[in-house]
Amino acid sequence: MAQNSNDGFPVVIEGGGSLPDYMTAQKTVLDERLVKNGAILFRGFGVVTASDFDAAVASYGEASFTYAESLSNAVRVNVTERVFTANEAPPQTSIFLHHEMAQTPIYPSKLFFFCEIAAEEGGATPICRSDILLEQLRAQHPALVAEFAAKGVRYTNVMPPTDDAGSGQGRSWRSTLNVDSRDAAETRLGSLDYEWQWQADDSLRATTPVLDAIRTLDDGREIFFNQLIAAFRGWQDARNNPSKAISFGDGTPIAADDMAVAITLSDALTYDLQWQAGDVVLLDNFLVMHGRRPFVGKRRVLASLIS
Ligand code: FE2
Repeated sequence: MAQNSNDGFPVVIEGGGSLPDYMTAQKTVLDERLVKNGAILFRGFGVVTASDFDAAVASYGEASFTYAESLSNAVRVNVTERVFTANEAPPQTSIFLHHEMAQTPIYPSKLFFFCEIAAEEGGATPICRSDILLEQLRAQHPALVAEFAAKGVRYTNVMPPTDDAGSGQGRSWRSTLNVDSRDAAETRLGSLDYEWQWQADDSLRATTPVLDAIRTLDDGREIFFNQLIAAFRGWQDARNNPSKAISFGDGTPIAADDMAVAITLSDALTYDLQWQAGDVVLLDNFLVMHGRRPFVGKRRVLASLIS
């Protein structure tokens, strides 16, 4: 029988039986714990393959958010209909804390991860409570939080013409926008209120409309719901310069010193989820940011997103 080990962060549920059965039977209780805590780790449920994982997600019973419809920058590969590789970026690349797809107007509400193969070294998934981060940031730098709330943020990203798996945000514009021509790309971007410029090498520089940097959940908790830390620390590749990736919604720059305050606080709040093969994690994408530590060896973590 499954046991509820604790209500620390994350909640750890150590199992014995079938995870799909547990998901179905405990759905209501799981959701109550998830909304309070933000993260649940299921360990020891005998989840071995991508299709075992797919079955557990299916039993949870909520609609999938598919990679094809998303505007994610990450290069991913579908394994089953619901399940895909978390990010094809190389092992030495850090993926910094973010809310999944908060740099776009379309994002999932919850995320499942499954560790099929644990890294030999490293490869933890850092997780950080975004409501606590915002509370601390407001205490330390109220003017910055007020500016984020008043102005929102915009993100600029240069997308290659074909997938670049060497980058953490190497998804091509064709795949990101789910189109096969420049005309169709412009139609899609226009419908989403983006601004764009074509580059000489057929890559596409796109700037989002003004997006929230801070959101209020239905229960009144406020969250630092954005992609600022990941973009500022990590959107570095052949096409992208992190210092140009973010701005306030009115186009004014966000000072590096200000970002440093948020980064220092988030680092102190971060818990490193050290994967064991077979682990499944459920995250509330509004309450919790996640990332990926660099690793050595063959690590395989699969993901599935809930609408
Ligand atoms: Fe992510």
